[in-house]
Formats: sequence, C-alpha cells, structure tokens
Amino acid sequence: MVPKLDRRQFVAGAAAGLAAAAPGSAFGRAPAIRTSRTVSPVVIASGNGHRYTNGGTRTCVETAFRLMTSGTDVLDALIAGVNIVELDPEDASVGYGGRPNADGVVQLDACCMHGPKRRAGGVAALEGVRTPSSVAQKVADLTDHHLLVGAGAQRFARQLGFAIEDDLNTDRSRRMWLEWKRRTDPGHYLDPDRTEAGGDAAARGRDVDNAMLADGVITEEELYGTINCNGVNAAGEICGVTTTSGLAWKIPGRVGDSPILGAGLYVDNSVGAAGSTGRGEANLYNLASFLIVERMRAGMHPKDAGMEALRRVQANTVEARLLNSRGLPAFGLTFYILDAEGRHAGVSMYAGETSRYAVCTENGGELLPLEPLLDGSPRD
Ligand code: GLY
Repeated sequence: MVPKLDRRQFVAGAAAGLAAAAPGSAFGRAPAIRTSRTVSPVVIASGNGHRYTNGGTRTCVETAFRLMTSGTDVLDALIAGVNIVELDPEDASVGYGGRPNADGVVQLDACCMHGPKRRAGGVAALEGVRTPSSVAQKVADLTDHHLLVGAGAQRFARQLGFAIEDDLNTDRSRRMWLEWKRRTDPGHYLDPDRTEAGGDAAARGRDVDNAMLADGVITEEELYGTINCNGVNAAGEICGVTTTSGLAWKIPGRVGDSPILGAGLYVDNSVGAAGSTGRGEANLYNLASFLIVERMRAGMHPKDAGMEALRRVQANTVEARLLNSRGLPAFGLTFYILDAEGRHAGVSMYAGETSRYAVCTENGGELLPLEPLLDGSPRD
C-alpha cells in the first residue's frame, strides 16, 4: 500500500517535470477557455492508479493531483500520471510490459479528452511506444483528426520524436504469452515441466482464460487491464485519459473500448467524465461512458449514472457464451466517474478482491471500494 502524503507535502509545489517519455507538452499552457466554477479538485483512476510508482515515490493519482493543483493543465497532469503506470513493467496491462497479442506483440490503445478545449485524440494498435497516452495527446493537439491506428500511428509517433522500440515485452509478459501458447496450442508449444504433454490444457477459448485465472497465471484485472484517469481542477476544468494493452492474447489488430470516444472515455466539461476498464466489447456495444455522462447531465449522481450503464450492459448481454451459470454477465466491467462538482464513484459489474478505485484529493491518495451491481463472481 502506498503511504498517504500529508497536506503540506501535497501543496508544496509541482513534481519535477512531466514524464520523460512524452516529448514536449501538447497542452503546455493553461487552456484559454475558463469556467467560473469553484470545485474541490480531485483526480480519480482505476485501482492501478494508486498501486504503481515505477520506482518513484508517487502514484499516478498523486502525481496528477500534485501537478494539477500546481497550475499544470489538467490533461498534462493526468497524462504525466498515467505515464508512470505505462512505463512501470510491474503493471502488466498497460504500456511497457503490457499483455501481448496472440502473436506475442504488445499493441497499445489510448485516448484522451480535454474538456475545456473540446478536443480529443486517440491511437489504436500502436506498437513500439511505451506511452501511447502521450501519442494520443499529440493527435489531439497537432492534427485535425481523432484516431490514428497501427503503422500510421507509429509513423506519426516517430515523426514527433517518440522512441520506437522493437519489442515492449518484459521477461514476465513473454513468459505469460508462452504459457498461453502452451495451453492453447499444446501440440506445438511444449512445456518441459509437464510430462503429461499438457493433456487437459487442450481446453479452448474462454476455458483457457478461466483456467489461467484459476491457476493464478493471470489476474482478472490483467486480462482486460487498463488504466483510466479523470480529473477536475478548482476552476472546474475536466479532462480524462484511458490507456491499455487491451485484451490479453487478442487477435492482432483487435481494438477494444479504450481509444473509442463514448466507450472507454467521455468528457463533457459542463457535466463530468467517465472511463472504463474491463471487457471492451460489452462497453462498445453500449457506449456506456457517453451514456453515463448524459445521465449526469440529466441530474443523476455519478454512482446512479454508472449503475444505469451497468444495467444496460447486463440487459444487452444475451449470448450464452457471455453468461455464467446464473445467467449473468460472465465478465468484469468497471466505470470511473467524476462530475463537475467533483463528486465521484467507481462502479463495477462485480466486486472482486482487488475491487478498488483510486482517488486523490488534498488529503492524499487512497483506494476506495467499488460499488458492485451484481453479487458473487463473473465465473460463478
Ligand atoms: N477495456 C480494455 C479492452 O477491452 O481492450
């Protein structure tokens, strides 16, 4: 657990520099568009936003809050925060050391929205750049487009000075991929430690994921792992960012909800922000982040708006392969929600052992419980 900082530490000025992997600062100055609101500043994120420090002393939400309250543009602050998680090889779901696709290649998705500027940018299936969120910010800032994908996104990043690496795997992520190959293709990928030639490992598809979860090879969080981070400053300026390596072992080229506006992230500066982690396809079919923001626009509290989105996803989950033995969604999906008053909530299809979301206020960073829609586990 990361120790809380006291208030004096928090207001003692900006952290030294934004993340090194992001060349320049896309929204380097405070936005020209100002609101008249006065809000208690807050940064929220998925639980990994208060779990990893990449060898430093502050987590994502602590870093973002500290920068934001020291006058840094809200989106710059949030991206400096998520860069910590993207660069940390210990987080196996985001950026460097993220989960590779079926070919063993790490392909990353990200998007960001700048509420005051009404601008957004995204990248998808980007290879070789550790900090896709920073490339997404450049798409927002320097192009007339929203989404760049694949080789085009990588070329854009190279042109802007981002380091392009041959391989973003770590030893750990490569070991995980090899384990997945052994279980799904035991005839070709042999496990020297298993004399029985992997017999029962011939289970396919979801069964393999389930077995790997049950065996503790991968966690539910890592299977669809992602970080979403949203913040509002004292002037009421709201921004958000979502970044991920997407579904573990995905078909190469598969893009989930994270870089898609309205799904993995949505921000309306007069209303609030919502973002997601979990099964991207379920979210994409419902554009749930947009739905949540619209429900808050109609007056709902962030928690109620999030619960309505989860109920919508549940109602639209009808395929037997996606239902558990109780007829309920057999997957996790979580939303992190912030409104223009700084009220926030984390809501989830189920409560898991690691079911927490990260929050940082002037009192420091902490992990708070998620509100589950359903009892039990997706695999019951
Ligand atoms: N939510 C991350 C993904 O499905 O790719």
